[in-house]
Order: sequence, then C-alpha cells, then structure tokens
Amino acid sequence: MNGDLFKTDVSIKDNLIFIKSKADEANQAQTNSAFSEKWEYTAENAAEKDLDMLAQTMHRNYLSQYGFDSEEALAKFLQTKKVILDAGCGGGIKTAWFAQLAPNSTVIGMDFSEGCMIAAKKYAALKNLYFIRGDIADTPFKPGVVDYVNCDQVIHHTENPPKTFAHLTSLIAPNGEFACYVYAKKALPRELLDEYFRTHVHNSTKEQIWELSKQMTQLGKILTDLHINITVPDIPMLQIKGGEYDLQRFLYWNFLKCYWNAELGEEVSNIINFDWWAPSNAYRYSEEEYKKIIADNNLKIIFFHSEEACYSGRFVK
Ligand SMILES: C[S@@+](CC[C@H](N)C(=O)[O-])C[C@H]1O[C@@H](n2cnc3c(N)ncnc32)[C@H](O)[C@@H]1O
Repeated sequence: MNGDLFKTDVSIKDNLIFIKSKADEANQAQTNSAFSEKWEYTAENAAEKDLDMLAQTMHRNYLSQYGFDSEEALAKFLQTKKVILDAGCGGGIKTAWFAQLAPNSTVIGMDFSEGCMIAAKKYAALKNLYFIRGDIADTPFKPGVVDYVNCDQVIHHTENPPKTFAHLTSLIAPNGEFACYVYAKKALPRELLDEYFRTHVHNSTKEQIWELSKQMTQLGKILTDLHINITVPDIPMLQIKGGEYDLQRFLYWNFLKCYWNAELGEEVSNIINFDWWAPSNAYRYSEEEYKKIIADNNLKIIFFHSEEACYSGRFVK
C-alpha cells in the first residue's frame, strides 16, 4: 500500500486502513447502523448459494449500468487503473470482484458500516485489496490520486449527496474516471409513501423493520404468483406511466416496494426489502437533477444509463 495516497496519518494493519470516523448527523448514524444490521444479518443468515446468485446478478447489472460489454471488457479497463476506490463498498462483493479482475491494481473499499469489516475478513486472501471504515464524503485521500472512483448504489445514502459527489470528484486522477449511480424518483404515490417512511424509520426498531421487510417479501411473492397482467392508462397527475404491467411490477414501481425474486429466494429478498426500508438517508433524483450535479462538478458524461430504479454512468474531468 502506497502511503502517498493519504493526506492524513493512517495506520495500516493487514488489509485494514484505520482512520478516525464517526457520524455526527443523526440520519447518517441511523443509516450506518441500518446497513451494519443488514451486512451482519446477511453474513449470518443468507445461504452461500443464494449469495453466489446475488453476486452474479450484481455483476450483470454492473456491466449494463456502467457500459461494459462483458466482464473481460471491465477487466481490461480496470487493469489500466492503478488505484481503484469502491466508495461505499458494503459487504465487498464488487470490491473483491474488481480486485480479482485487476490483480496488479490497488483496490480499496470504504464504507461507514460494519459491512467493510466483514468484507475485510471474508476477502483477506486477496493481497491487492484493502478496506477503510469511514465516511466517503470525507475520505483520507489526497486530491487527484484515484484512477477509478466507483460509487455504486451508495451516494443517495450519504448525508448530503451533492457534497459527497463533489468530494469524490476531487479524488479523480488526471485521466481517471468516476462511476456513480443514484436512485431514480418514482411515481408520486410511491414517493409519498417512501418519504413518509424515511421520516418515521427512526421510531422503528430493527426487529419491526425486519418484520415489515418479511411481510413485503410475502406480499411481493403472492402478487407475483398471481401472474396477472393489467393494462393501465397514463395517469399524469400521479406520474404513473400507462401500459401493460404484471400486477406486482405495477404496484412495486408506483405504490409500494414489495420485492420478490424467486431466483434469489426468500432470505435474500427479505434483505433487499430491508435495504430499502431501513435507512433514513435514501434520496431520489430525476434525470435532470442528477445531470445538474454532474455538470456542476464540470464532469463530462462518457456513458449514461437510465432505468426505472436508477440513473448511472461514467464521468471524466
Ligand atoms: C446499498 S449498499 C451498496 C453496497 C455496494 N456498493 C454494492 O453495490 O453492493 C449502500 C452502502 O452505502 C454505505 N454508506 C452509506 N452512507 C455512507 C457514507 N457516508 N460513507 C460510506 N459508506 C456509506 C452503507 O453503509 C452501505 O453499505
């Protein structure tokens, strides 16, 4: 590990880089503890085969959401990057993937939750992979030292996403790239329910949120198993797009997050529902709002992807 990367003193033991880190804001602290709970629960409860399936799904999504034709194309790209930061690495599935695809690069995963400590243990055998527990809005890196900053499915969970975006932009090395994903705004009924819940989640215990997440999995499964297709009119006042939908998908996108995926199974579906319902910080953006943040940071878009759930892309200075 090259000590020149850091602007402050850090201590390094094995694959862990230690810095002082504490969340001062109540919502960020709650978000950290929600994700710590998610990663600890995942490590204890999810079956290895379901996690393998989840990793494959995550890899597939990553390639399409960031414009890589294949895993080989991603590997070739990563191998040109000496220092790679996975900002908000969670349990480290993608961080470890990057480290395997680019064995001569230094890959660093950073996360504010227990997730990165679990990842550090799980992936200790990968010698080019390090983890830091701390805030990605205030990293210990010098400006301009990271060749690939990846912030996948994270920035909307930070206290002030535009501020985090600006900080991560400052880390990009000359000729480096920044890959980032934000949650997309959904139809009005779903936004209202989600927003209501964000402000009340502080008053719920983790047991209550697990209970809710499991109920959402059951509801999602029941609706999916009906195999009902409906044709819906456009309802512009509620921002609902008309068309033909599976009933579960229609309710999911427009009213209520009730995730169910038979391939991933019940426990992983519960975890995905918990991931949605538990954190206080989970901002959503329209495409225009996201593109404004990118433009405000004087970045050029080299790839942009949009789908119902998110906007993602790769940007350069
Ligand atoms: C949905 S998970 C995504 C994990 C991983 N990037 C992935 O795609 O699998 C979001 C992660 O963001 C982390 N996070 C939220 N706010 C953060 C912050 N300010 N600094 C570092 N990590 C943060 C959470 O702890 C959580 O592990």
